[in-house]
Amino acid sequence: MPEPLQEFSDPLVALSTISESINTLYDIDELLKKILDIALRTVNAQRGVILMSEHDDPAELKVRLSHNLDSNTISALAPFSRSIVEAALASGETLITYNPEDDTRFTASTSIANQKIVAAACLPLRIKTRRLGAIYMDSTETRGKFRPEMEPFLNAFAHQSAIALENAQMYEQLRTENRRLRHALANTSEFKEIIGTSQPMKHVFDVVRSVMDTPATVLLLGESGTGKELVARALHYNSRIKDKPYIALFCGSLPESLLESELFGHKQGAFTGATHDKKGLFEEADGGTIFLDEIGDISPKIQTLLLRVLQEREVRRIGETKVRKIEVRVVAATNKDLQEEVKAGQFREDLFYRLNVITIAVPALRHRGNDIVLLAQHFLDRAVGKSNRPIRGFSSEAIESMLAHDWPGNVRELENTIERAVLLAKGEYLTPADLRLKSEPAAPLEMQTLRDHERRIVERILQEHQGNVTEAAKALGVSRRWLHYRLREWQL
Ligand SMILES: Nc1ncnc2c1ncn2[C@@H]1O[C@H](COP(=O)(O)OP(=O)(O)OP(=O)(O)O)[C@@H](O)[C@H]1O
Ligand SMILES: [Mg+2]
Repeated sequence: MPEPLQEFSDPLVALSTISESINTLYDIDELLKKILDIALRTVNAQRGVILMSEHDDPAELKVRLSHNLDSNTISALAPFSRSIVEAALASGETLITYNPEDDTRFTASTSIANQKIVAAACLPLRIKTRRLGAIYMDSTETRGKFRPEMEPFLNAFAHQSAIALENAQMYEQLRTENRRLRHALANTSEFKEIIGTSQPMKHVFDVVRSVMDTPATVLLLGESGTGKELVARALHYNSRIKDKPYIALFCGSLPESLLESELFGHKQGAFTGATHDKKGLFEEADGGTIFLDEIGDISPKIQTLLLRVLQEREVRRIGETKVRKIEVRVVAATNKDLQEEVKAGQFREDLFYRLNVITIAVPALRHRGNDIVLLAQHFLDRAVGKSNRPIRGFSSEAIESMLAHDWPGNVRELENTIERAVLLAKGEYLTPADLRLKSEPAAPLEMQTLRDHERRIVERILQEHQGNVTEAAKALGVSRRWLHYRLREWQL
């Protein structure tokens, strides 16, 4: 005969703790830890697991968390434990057995004897009829509080835990959705956000428009700060798949193993720290766009894995054999000369060709003529709005100096220059002194060929004549044929 339960204070504390967790713990992993911890402590169990339904396969329960038990699925549990879990799930009710060897409901007694289980319990976790999972616990030392009187408490506890879990799951979904919406909102007018009316930028817009609704892989090339990321977003947020995820990943700064698990995901236990199954970003971006920034910096191993994704359109999580089909638009960017990297043996040629289906060369700011002024005005308006400083505009000398500057840091440099000038300026109109542009060209003079200067002058004059070659040739004092020849050579 089990002793009568002396006091309910512990179970009540357990119940109130779990109720409190409903309101405070939104992290599913943390919540699961708390639930298992309370459950084990209240019945004095030595071992336990929490099994959860998987999204992609609700029928299969997987071990999400365990204490002193190492199995990944129900089927991997010992036959006796499994029969208890299955019986509890079938009835939907908490099940306790405190004398398993004599319990006629469970026949796999050999394994009980082998494992010396003296008591066990299973608490199904469900909301109405929806099954979330189950808690399984047993004891190999003492029967502890595995007693029929505990059933009402364990039922209530399971119920509270299920609510807490569902709450946390809903919260997680909401958070993801919110992040996506906020991101989408901030980017709705992306195309309009890209300022530029120069010929080279018009060319960029044309290509973006013509490829954005195709699934073709796009490679963005251009110096640092030219706006590659802006173009990547424009490609996504103006396309038919704009409501699907847009996921950007900085490939350059991540260590190889982390980058691999970020991109492809992993199976629980695939490596130390892989506490549960995790989707990779390719899977997260399914149906949408993945932007792989700094693609020129990825290691040979990641290059090989990426090549496979681009060829097969499927991914495999680390530690898994199963492959998953994905439909993702890939946009990659680099400020490296990938062709040079290929020649130097740093970048796989086959991957380069897979990435290089559509290439968009985002032009350097010094090749965008009057766009420099438009951008400067845009950044000025924004900086004035933010700082509330009484700046009205630029002096004509300031405009001259910006047009003459080389902008090695491109649009980013211009943005920073204006923001700093707005904060420091004394007068109403920004002067060259406020802009503090280095008067010497960024590249040492001897590094600049006559051709560089020639190109800059031609571009400036062309801009001034709205791309009209006849007019520009006249202004430059050269023949139209000469100008056409040069433009072809520079691919303008
Ligand atoms: N055409 C543009 N109109 C308005 N803002 C721009 C434009 N191009 C770039 N910017 C701004 O300049 C900054 C740099 O752009 P972005 O980060 O896209 O450059 P990037 O080419 O990705 O540079 P990096 O190679 O260094 O990563 C950003 O703040 C971006 O908003
Ligand atoms: Mg960038």
